[in-house]
Amino acid sequence: MKILIVDDDQIFRKHLSKALIRRGYEVESVEKGEDAVRLGSERPFDAAIIDMNMPGMNGLQVVKELKDVNPAIISIILTGYGSISTAVDSIKLGAYHYQTKPCNISILEKILTDASSERSIIHKSFEGIYHGIAGKSPQIQKIISTVQKVKDSSLPVLIYGESGTGKELVARALHFDSCRKDGPFIPINCALLKPDLLENELFGHVKGAFTGASDIKEGLIAIADGGTLFIDEIADMNPAVQAGLLRFIETGIFRPLGSVKEKKVNVRIVTAINKDIEEEVSAGRFRKDLYYRLKGCSIDIPPLRERKGDIPELVNYFIKNFSETQKRPVTVTPAAVEVILSRPWHGNVRELFRFLETALILGEDNTLSKHLINSLLSHNQEKPSASSSSLESREVNYIKEQLEACRWNISRAAKALGIDRRTLQRKMVRYNLR
Ligand SMILES: Nc1ncnc2c1ncn2[C@@H]1O[C@H](COP(=O)(O)OP(=O)(O)OP(=O)(O)O)[C@@H](O)[C@H]1O
Ligand SMILES: [Mg+2]
Repeated sequence: MKILIVDDDQIFRKHLSKALIRRGYEVESVEKGEDAVRLGSERPFDAAIIDMNMPGMNGLQVVKELKDVNPAIISIILTGYGSISTAVDSIKLGAYHYQTKPCNISILEKILTDASSERSIIHKSFEGIYHGIAGKSPQIQKIISTVQKVKDSSLPVLIYGESGTGKELVARALHFDSCRKDGPFIPINCALLKPDLLENELFGHVKGAFTGASDIKEGLIAIADGGTLFIDEIADMNPAVQAGLLRFIETGIFRPLGSVKEKKVNVRIVTAINKDIEEEVSAGRFRKDLYYRLKGCSIDIPPLRERKGDIPELVNYFIKNFSETQKRPVTVTPAAVEVILSRPWHGNVRELFRFLETALILGEDNTLSKHLINSLLSHNQEKPSASSSSLESREVNYIKEQLEACRWNISRAAKALGIDRRTLQRKMVRYNLR
Protein backbone atom coordinates (compact mmCIF):
# COMPACT_ATOMS: atom_id res chain seq x y z
CA MET A 1 0.00 0.00 0.00
CA LYS A 2 1.36 3.42 -1.01
CA ILE A 3 0.83 6.22 1.48
CA LEU A 4 1.27 9.95 1.27
CA ILE A 5 1.83 11.94 4.47
CA VAL A 6 1.14 15.67 4.47
CA ASP A 7 2.14 17.54 7.59
CA ASP A 8 4.05 20.73 8.27
CA ASP A 9 5.51 19.22 11.46
CA GLN A 10 8.80 17.74 10.34
CA ILE A 11 9.37 15.62 13.43
CA PHE A 12 5.91 14.07 13.28
CA ARG A 13 6.34 13.44 9.55
CA LYS A 14 9.62 11.64 10.06
CA HIS A 15 8.34 9.61 12.99
CA LEU A 16 5.18 8.50 11.19
CA SER A 17 7.01 7.69 7.93
CA LYS A 18 9.50 5.54 9.77
CA ALA A 19 6.81 3.70 11.70
CA LEU A 20 4.76 2.99 8.58
CA ILE A 21 7.77 1.89 6.53
CA ARG A 22 8.69 -0.51 9.32
CA ARG A 23 5.22 -1.99 8.98
CA GLY A 24 5.68 -2.62 5.28
CA TYR A 25 3.98 0.43 3.77
CA GLU A 26 5.51 2.44 0.95
CA VAL A 27 5.61 6.04 2.14
CA GLU A 28 6.27 9.52 0.78
CA SER A 29 5.90 12.62 2.86
CA VAL A 30 5.58 16.30 2.05
CA GLU A 31 5.35 19.48 4.05
CA LYS A 32 2.78 21.42 2.06
CA GLY A 33 -0.72 20.73 0.77
CA GLU A 34 0.19 22.08 -2.67
CA ASP A 35 2.99 19.50 -3.01
CA ALA A 36 0.64 16.75 -1.90
CA VAL A 37 -1.88 17.55 -4.62
CA ARG A 38 0.87 17.69 -7.26
CA LEU A 39 2.37 14.35 -6.14
CA GLY A 40 -1.10 12.85 -5.85
CA SER A 41 -1.83 13.66 -9.47
CA GLU A 42 1.46 12.13 -10.58
CA ARG A 43 1.41 8.88 -8.60
CA PRO A 44 -1.29 6.39 -7.65
CA PHE A 45 -1.32 6.65 -3.84
CA ASP A 46 -3.72 4.34 -2.01
CA ALA A 47 -4.06 6.56 1.03
CA ALA A 48 -3.15 9.98 2.36
CA ILE A 49 -2.68 11.00 5.99
CA ILE A 50 -3.33 14.71 6.13
CA ASP A 51 -2.80 17.24 8.88
CA MET A 52 -5.72 19.63 9.25
CA ASN A 53 -3.90 22.80 10.21
CA MET A 54 -1.08 23.75 7.88
CA PRO A 55 0.07 27.09 6.56
CA GLY A 56 -1.05 27.57 2.96
CA MET A 57 -3.49 24.98 1.75
CA ASN A 58 -5.30 23.43 4.75
CA GLY A 59 -6.32 19.82 5.26
CA LEU A 60 -9.86 20.28 3.95
CA GLN A 61 -8.64 21.69 0.65
CA VAL A 62 -6.11 18.89 0.32
CA VAL A 63 -8.83 16.24 0.85
CA LYS A 64 -10.97 17.83 -1.81
CA GLU A 65 -8.26 18.33 -4.40
CA LEU A 66 -6.70 14.91 -3.88
CA LYS A 67 -10.13 13.38 -4.40
CA ASP A 68 -10.43 15.31 -7.67
CA VAL A 69 -7.15 13.93 -9.01
CA ASN A 70 -7.54 10.44 -7.53
CA PRO A 71 -11.14 9.51 -6.64
CA ALA A 72 -10.11 6.17 -5.09
CA ILE A 73 -7.68 7.67 -2.58
CA ILE A 74 -8.41 7.05 1.12
CA SER A 75 -7.90 10.31 3.01
CA ILE A 76 -7.43 10.33 6.74
CA ILE A 77 -7.44 13.69 8.50
CA LEU A 78 -5.41 14.31 11.64
CA THR A 79 -6.67 17.05 13.85
CA GLY A 80 -6.32 18.64 17.28
CA TYR A 81 -9.17 18.25 19.78
CA GLY A 82 -10.33 21.79 19.17
CA SER A 83 -11.28 21.32 15.56
CA ILE A 84 -13.27 18.12 15.38
CA SER A 85 -16.26 19.75 13.74
CA THR A 86 -14.06 21.00 10.91
CA ALA A 87 -12.75 17.47 10.65
CA VAL A 88 -16.32 16.30 10.28
CA ASP A 89 -16.57 18.64 7.28
CA SER A 90 -13.66 16.73 5.81
CA ILE A 91 -15.81 13.59 5.93
CA LYS A 92 -18.47 15.41 3.96
CA LEU A 93 -15.77 16.25 1.41
CA GLY A 94 -14.89 12.60 1.04
CA ALA A 95 -12.32 11.86 3.76
CA TYR A 96 -12.63 8.33 5.08
CA HIS A 97 -11.89 9.08 8.69
CA TYR A 98 -10.62 11.70 11.07
CA GLN A 99 -8.37 11.06 13.99
CA THR A 100 -7.37 13.33 16.84
CA LYS A 101 -3.73 14.10 17.47
CA PRO A 102 -1.59 12.94 19.18
CA CYS A 103 -2.41 9.56 17.76
CA ASN A 104 -1.12 6.15 18.25
CA ILE A 105 0.38 4.42 15.22
CA SER A 106 -1.57 1.21 15.78
CA ILE A 107 -4.85 3.14 15.62
CA LEU A 108 -3.75 4.65 12.31
CA GLU A 109 -2.78 1.24 11.05
CA LYS A 110 -6.19 -0.15 11.97
CA ILE A 111 -7.89 2.69 10.10
CA LEU A 112 -5.68 2.04 7.06
CA THR A 113 -6.37 -1.69 6.91
CA ASP A 114 -10.10 -1.27 7.45
CA ALA A 115 -10.24 1.45 4.83
CA SER A 116 -8.35 -0.50 2.22
CA SER A 117 -10.57 -3.53 2.59
CA GLU A 118 -13.67 -1.40 2.47
CA ARG A 119 -12.58 0.84 -0.37
CA SER A 120 -13.25 -1.59 -3.14
CA ILE A 121 -16.62 -2.32 -1.61
CA ILE A 122 -17.65 1.27 -2.02
CA HIS A 123 -16.64 1.35 -5.66
CA LYS A 124 -17.53 -2.16 -6.78
CA SER A 125 -20.28 -4.41 -5.63
CA PHE A 126 -19.71 -8.12 -5.56
CA GLU A 127 -22.54 -10.31 -6.60
CA GLY A 128 -24.58 -11.52 -3.65
CA ILE A 129 -22.66 -9.41 -1.12
CA TYR A 130 -24.78 -6.99 0.83
CA HIS A 131 -22.98 -3.69 1.48
CA GLY A 132 -19.61 -5.33 1.89
CA ILE A 133 -20.87 -7.91 4.41
CA ALA A 134 -19.56 -11.27 3.18
CA GLY A 135 -20.72 -14.54 4.70
CA LYS A 136 -23.47 -17.08 4.13
CA SER A 137 -23.78 -18.47 7.66
CA PRO A 138 -27.28 -18.35 9.16
CA GLN A 139 -25.94 -15.86 11.73
CA ILE A 140 -24.78 -13.39 9.06
CA GLN A 141 -27.93 -13.88 7.01
CA LYS A 142 -30.01 -13.09 10.09
CA ILE A 143 -27.94 -9.94 10.72
CA ILE A 144 -28.49 -8.78 7.14
CA SER A 145 -32.20 -9.40 7.34
CA THR A 146 -32.39 -7.44 10.62
CA VAL A 147 -30.49 -4.56 9.00
CA GLN A 148 -32.95 -4.57 6.10
CA LYS A 149 -35.91 -4.62 8.44
CA VAL A 150 -34.85 -1.73 10.65
CA LYS A 151 -32.70 0.43 8.36
CA ASP A 152 -35.41 2.96 7.46
CA SER A 153 -36.88 3.35 10.93
CA SER A 154 -35.43 5.76 13.43
CA LEU A 155 -35.12 3.22 16.25
CA PRO A 156 -31.71 3.28 17.91
CA VAL A 157 -29.68 0.15 17.18
CA LEU A 158 -27.13 -1.46 19.46
CA ILE A 159 -24.47 -3.56 17.73
CA TYR A 160 -22.70 -6.02 19.93
CA GLY A 161 -19.60 -7.98 18.99
CA GLU A 162 -15.96 -8.64 19.76
CA SER A 163 -13.30 -6.48 18.18
CA GLY A 164 -12.94 -7.04 14.44
CA THR A 165 -16.29 -8.79 13.93
CA GLY A 166 -17.67 -6.09 11.63
CA LYS A 167 -19.65 -3.73 13.86
CA GLU A 168 -18.71 -0.61 11.95
CA LEU A 169 -19.38 -2.38 8.67
CA VAL A 170 -22.92 -3.21 9.84
CA ALA A 171 -23.41 0.36 11.10
CA ARG A 172 -22.39 1.68 7.68
CA ALA A 173 -24.80 -0.72 5.95
CA LEU A 174 -27.59 0.50 8.24
CA HIS A 175 -26.89 4.02 7.05
CA PHE A 176 -25.89 3.61 3.41
CA ASP A 177 -28.81 1.30 2.57
CA SER A 178 -31.35 3.53 4.30
CA CYS A 179 -33.45 6.52 3.40
CA ARG A 180 -30.81 8.60 5.22
CA LYS A 181 -27.99 7.61 2.90
CA ASP A 182 -27.61 11.09 1.47
CA GLY A 183 -27.26 12.54 4.96
CA PRO A 184 -24.01 12.36 6.95
CA PHE A 185 -22.67 9.22 8.63
CA ILE A 186 -20.72 10.48 11.64
CA PRO A 187 -18.66 8.06 13.72
CA ILE A 188 -17.43 8.88 17.22
CA ASN A 189 -15.55 6.61 19.60
CA CYS A 190 -16.23 7.10 23.32
CA ALA A 191 -13.09 5.26 24.37
CA LEU A 192 -10.88 7.78 22.62
CA LEU A 193 -12.22 10.96 24.23
CA LYS A 194 -12.11 12.14 27.84
CA PRO A 195 -15.63 12.39 29.36
CA ASP A 196 -15.96 16.19 29.29
CA LEU A 197 -14.60 16.34 25.76
CA LEU A 198 -17.08 13.70 24.69
CA GLU A 199 -19.96 15.75 26.10
CA ASN A 200 -18.67 18.81 24.30
CA GLU A 201 -18.21 16.93 21.03
CA LEU A 202 -21.68 15.42 21.12
CA PHE A 203 -23.75 18.38 22.30
CA GLY A 204 -21.56 21.35 21.36
CA HIS A 205 -21.54 24.58 23.34
CA VAL A 206 -22.46 28.24 23.17
CA LYS A 207 -20.03 31.12 23.46
CA GLY A 208 -18.87 31.55 27.06
CA ALA A 209 -20.26 28.18 28.20
CA PHE A 210 -17.04 27.62 30.14
CA THR A 211 -13.65 29.25 30.47
CA GLY A 212 -12.01 29.03 27.10
CA ALA A 213 -15.25 28.64 25.12
CA SER A 214 -14.63 31.76 23.11
CA ASP A 215 -16.72 30.62 20.20
CA ILE A 216 -19.88 28.70 19.50
CA LYS A 217 -19.31 25.06 18.66
CA GLU A 218 -21.75 22.81 16.93
CA GLY A 219 -22.07 19.31 18.41
CA LEU A 220 -21.89 16.10 16.39
CA ILE A 221 -25.58 15.40 17.09
CA ALA A 222 -26.46 18.61 15.27
CA ILE A 223 -23.96 17.92 12.50
CA ALA A 224 -25.46 14.46 11.95
CA ASP A 225 -28.92 15.99 11.30
CA GLY A 226 -30.66 14.00 8.58
CA GLY A 227 -28.18 11.15 8.92
CA THR A 228 -26.69 8.68 11.38
CA LEU A 229 -24.51 9.15 14.45
CA PHE A 230 -22.47 6.01 15.10
CA ILE A 231 -21.36 5.96 18.74
CA ASP A 232 -18.66 3.32 19.13
CA GLU A 233 -17.61 1.76 22.46
CA ILE A 234 -20.63 3.24 24.21
CA ALA A 235 -19.87 1.34 27.43
CA ASP A 236 -17.12 3.91 28.01
CA MET A 237 -19.57 6.84 28.00
CA ASN A 238 -19.86 8.46 31.42
CA PRO A 239 -23.23 8.67 33.22
CA ALA A 240 -23.73 12.43 32.74
CA VAL A 241 -23.38 12.10 28.97
CA GLN A 242 -25.55 8.98 29.03
CA ALA A 243 -28.38 11.02 30.59
CA GLY A 244 -28.22 13.59 27.77
CA LEU A 245 -28.14 10.87 25.16
CA LEU A 246 -31.14 9.07 26.63
CA ARG A 247 -33.11 12.27 26.62
CA PHE A 248 -32.14 12.89 23.02
CA ILE A 249 -33.17 9.40 21.97
CA GLU A 250 -36.54 9.80 23.63
CA THR A 251 -37.37 13.29 22.47
CA GLY A 252 -35.05 14.21 19.61
CA ILE A 253 -34.10 17.24 21.72
CA PHE A 254 -30.77 18.20 23.26
CA ARG A 255 -29.24 21.26 24.84
CA PRO A 256 -25.77 22.52 23.86
CA LEU A 257 -23.56 23.20 26.91
CA GLY A 258 -24.29 26.57 28.48
CA SER A 259 -27.31 27.18 26.26
CA VAL A 260 -30.78 28.08 27.46
CA LYS A 261 -32.29 27.01 24.16
CA GLU A 262 -32.88 23.44 23.16
CA LYS A 263 -32.36 22.05 19.70
CA LYS A 264 -34.33 19.47 17.82
CA VAL A 265 -32.73 17.38 15.09
CA ASN A 266 -33.47 14.20 13.22
CA VAL A 267 -30.65 11.74 13.84
CA ARG A 268 -30.56 7.97 13.87
CA ILE A 269 -28.40 6.69 16.72
CA VAL A 270 -26.41 3.52 16.16
CA THR A 271 -24.19 2.35 19.00
CA ALA A 272 -21.60 -0.40 19.36
CA ILE A 273 -19.91 -2.24 22.20
CA ASN A 274 -17.29 -4.92 22.37
CA LYS A 275 -17.27 -5.57 26.06
CA ASP A 276 -19.62 -6.99 28.53
CA ILE A 277 -22.13 -4.17 28.99
CA GLU A 278 -24.33 -6.09 31.41
CA GLU A 279 -21.42 -6.03 33.80
CA GLU A 280 -21.14 -2.24 33.44
CA VAL A 281 -24.88 -1.99 34.11
CA SER A 282 -24.82 -4.13 37.22
CA ALA A 283 -21.79 -2.24 38.51
CA GLY A 284 -23.79 0.98 38.13
CA ARG A 285 -21.41 2.47 35.56
CA PHE A 286 -23.94 2.32 32.77
CA ARG A 287 -27.54 3.52 33.14
CA LYS A 288 -30.05 0.72 33.12
CA ASP A 289 -32.74 2.81 31.43
CA LEU A 290 -30.42 3.77 28.57
CA TYR A 291 -29.22 0.20 28.21
CA TYR A 292 -32.78 -1.10 27.90
CA ARG A 293 -33.67 1.64 25.46
CA LEU A 294 -30.67 0.78 23.27
CA LYS A 295 -31.13 -2.94 23.61
CA GLY A 296 -34.66 -2.68 22.18
CA CYS A 297 -33.20 -3.27 18.77
CA SER A 298 -29.89 -5.03 18.93
CA ILE A 299 -27.67 -6.89 16.51
CA ASP A 300 -25.30 -9.44 17.98
CA ILE A 301 -22.38 -10.29 15.70
CA PRO A 302 -20.94 -13.60 16.81
CA PRO A 303 -17.17 -14.09 16.81
CA LEU A 304 -15.74 -15.71 13.72
CA ARG A 305 -14.88 -18.92 15.59
CA GLU A 306 -18.62 -19.48 16.09
CA ARG A 307 -19.43 -19.13 12.40
CA LYS A 308 -16.51 -20.79 10.75
CA GLY A 309 -18.71 -21.51 7.76
CA ASP A 310 -18.15 -17.87 6.76
CA ILE A 311 -14.39 -18.30 6.49
CA PRO A 312 -14.21 -19.68 2.92
CA GLU A 313 -16.38 -16.86 1.63
CA LEU A 314 -14.45 -14.22 3.57
CA VAL A 315 -11.19 -15.59 2.20
CA ASN A 316 -12.51 -15.56 -1.38
CA TYR A 317 -13.90 -12.12 -0.89
CA PHE A 318 -10.57 -10.82 0.37
CA ILE A 319 -8.65 -12.55 -2.41
CA LYS A 320 -10.96 -11.08 -5.06
CA ASN A 321 -10.64 -7.60 -3.56
CA PHE A 322 -6.89 -7.89 -3.29
CA SER A 323 -6.57 -9.07 -6.90
CA GLU A 324 -8.61 -6.14 -8.14
CA THR A 325 -7.15 -3.36 -6.06
CA GLN A 326 -3.53 -4.52 -6.34
CA LYS A 327 -3.94 -5.51 -10.00
CA ARG A 328 -2.34 -8.82 -9.10
CA PRO A 329 -4.41 -11.96 -9.72
CA VAL A 330 -4.03 -14.21 -6.68
CA THR A 331 -5.68 -17.47 -5.65
CA VAL A 332 -5.85 -19.71 -2.64
CA THR A 333 -5.76 -23.51 -2.59
CA PRO A 334 -8.52 -25.54 -0.87
CA ALA A 335 -5.88 -27.12 1.39
CA ALA A 336 -4.81 -23.65 2.54
CA VAL A 337 -8.42 -22.77 3.34
CA GLU A 338 -8.62 -25.95 5.44
CA VAL A 339 -5.68 -24.77 7.56
CA ILE A 340 -7.24 -21.31 7.92
CA LEU A 341 -10.49 -22.96 9.03
CA SER A 342 -8.72 -24.76 11.83
CA ARG A 343 -7.57 -21.55 13.52
CA PRO A 344 -9.53 -19.72 16.25
CA TRP A 345 -9.06 -16.13 14.89
CA HIS A 346 -9.54 -14.34 18.18
CA GLY A 347 -9.09 -11.02 16.36
CA ASN A 348 -11.97 -12.07 14.09
CA VAL A 349 -12.35 -10.84 10.52
CA ARG A 350 -9.79 -8.08 10.99
CA GLU A 351 -7.14 -10.58 12.08
CA LEU A 352 -8.03 -12.94 9.22
CA PHE A 353 -7.77 -10.18 6.61
CA ARG A 354 -4.52 -8.88 8.06
CA PHE A 355 -3.06 -12.36 8.01
CA LEU A 356 -4.09 -12.93 4.38
CA GLU A 357 -2.66 -9.59 3.36
CA THR A 358 0.67 -10.35 5.05
CA ALA A 359 0.74 -13.79 3.43
CA LEU A 360 0.11 -12.33 -0.01
CA ILE A 361 2.73 -9.66 0.42
CA LEU A 362 5.40 -11.91 1.90
CA GLY A 363 4.70 -14.91 -0.36
CA GLU A 364 6.33 -14.34 -3.72
CA ASP A 365 3.84 -16.66 -5.32
CA ASN A 366 0.39 -15.65 -6.56
CA THR A 367 -1.06 -18.78 -4.98
CA LEU A 368 -1.60 -18.99 -1.25
CA SER A 369 -0.61 -22.56 -0.49
CA LYS A 370 -1.03 -24.70 2.61
CA HIS A 371 2.73 -24.72 2.96
CA LEU A 372 3.03 -20.93 3.00
CA ILE A 373 0.14 -20.53 5.44
CA ASN A 374 1.57 -23.16 7.76
CA SER A 375 5.00 -21.61 7.75
CA LEU A 376 3.58 -18.17 8.54
CA LEU A 377 1.40 -19.53 11.30
CA SER A 378 4.27 -21.38 12.94
CA HIS A 379 6.41 -18.27 12.65
CA ASN A 380 3.69 -16.24 14.41
CA GLN A 381 3.59 -18.80 17.16
CA GLU A 382 7.31 -19.00 17.74
CA LYS A 383 7.25 -16.74 20.77
CA PRO A 384 4.79 -18.62 22.96
CA SER A 385 5.94 -22.06 21.90
CA ALA A 386 9.59 -21.32 22.61
CA SER A 387 8.72 -21.03 26.27
CA SER A 388 5.82 -23.44 26.19
CA SER A 389 7.09 -25.35 29.17
CA SER A 390 7.34 -22.24 31.30
CA LEU A 391 4.90 -21.56 34.09
CA GLU A 392 3.89 -18.28 32.48
CA SER A 393 2.86 -19.76 29.17
CA ARG A 394 0.85 -22.41 30.98
CA GLU A 395 -0.90 -19.64 32.83
CA VAL A 396 -1.64 -17.82 29.58
CA ASN A 397 -3.08 -20.96 28.02
CA TYR A 398 -5.18 -21.75 31.05
CA ILE A 399 -6.59 -18.22 31.23
CA LYS A 400 -7.35 -18.31 27.52
CA GLU A 401 -9.13 -21.63 27.88
CA GLN A 402 -11.33 -20.37 30.69
CA LEU A 403 -12.07 -17.12 28.88
CA GLU A 404 -13.16 -19.05 25.84
CA ALA A 405 -15.27 -21.43 27.87
CA CYS A 406 -17.01 -18.37 29.34
CA ARG A 407 -17.38 -16.67 25.92
CA TRP A 408 -14.97 -13.95 27.13
CA ASN A 409 -17.28 -12.90 29.93
CA ILE A 410 -14.72 -11.50 32.34
CA SER A 411 -16.69 -11.93 35.56
CA ARG A 412 -17.57 -15.54 34.82
CA ALA A 413 -14.03 -16.39 33.75
CA ALA A 414 -12.60 -14.74 36.86
CA LYS A 415 -14.91 -16.84 39.01
CA ALA A 416 -13.91 -20.00 37.15
CA LEU A 417 -10.25 -19.15 37.64
CA GLY A 418 -10.76 -18.31 41.30
CA ILE A 419 -9.34 -14.81 41.02
CA ASP A 420 -11.03 -11.43 41.12
CA ARG A 421 -12.11 -9.51 38.06
CA ARG A 422 -9.46 -6.79 38.32
CA THR A 423 -6.66 -9.35 38.62
CA LEU A 424 -7.94 -11.09 35.52
CA GLN A 425 -8.14 -7.80 33.64
CA ARG A 426 -4.56 -6.98 34.62
CA LYS A 427 -3.41 -10.37 33.41
CA MET A 428 -5.32 -9.94 30.15
CA VAL A 429 -3.54 -6.66 29.53
CA ARG A 430 -0.16 -8.13 30.47
CA TYR A 431 -0.57 -11.16 28.20
CA ASN A 432 -2.32 -9.23 25.47
CA LEU A 433 -5.44 -11.40 25.61
CA ARG A 434 -8.53 -10.01 23.88
N1 LIG B 1 -18.67 -9.99 7.12
C1 LIG B 1 -17.66 -9.27 6.66
N2 LIG B 1 -17.42 -9.22 5.32
C2 LIG B 1 -16.39 -8.50 4.83
N3 LIG B 1 -15.54 -7.79 5.58
C3 LIG B 1 -15.73 -7.80 6.90
C4 LIG B 1 -16.79 -8.54 7.50
N4 LIG B 1 -16.73 -8.34 8.84
C5 LIG B 1 -15.68 -7.53 9.06
N5 LIG B 1 -15.07 -7.20 7.90
C6 LIG B 1 -13.87 -6.36 7.76
O1 LIG B 1 -13.07 -6.56 8.92
C7 LIG B 1 -12.50 -5.33 9.37
C8 LIG B 1 -12.98 -5.01 10.76
O2 LIG B 1 -14.36 -4.69 10.75
P1 LIG B 1 -14.98 -3.51 11.63
O3 LIG B 1 -14.06 -2.36 11.69
O4 LIG B 1 -16.37 -3.26 11.16
O5 LIG B 1 -14.96 -4.25 13.03
P2 LIG B 1 -15.41 -3.72 14.47
O6 LIG B 1 -16.32 -4.76 15.02
O7 LIG B 1 -15.93 -2.34 14.36
O8 LIG B 1 -14.02 -3.76 15.25
P3 LIG B 1 -13.52 -2.86 16.53
O9 LIG B 1 -14.37 -3.27 17.71
O10 LIG B 1 -12.10 -3.29 16.71
O11 LIG B 1 -13.69 -1.44 16.16
C9 LIG B 1 -12.90 -4.29 8.33
O12 LIG B 1 -11.90 -4.23 7.36
C10 LIG B 1 -14.17 -4.87 7.74
O13 LIG B 1 -14.40 -4.38 6.45
MG1 LIG C 1 -15.13 -0.53 15.14
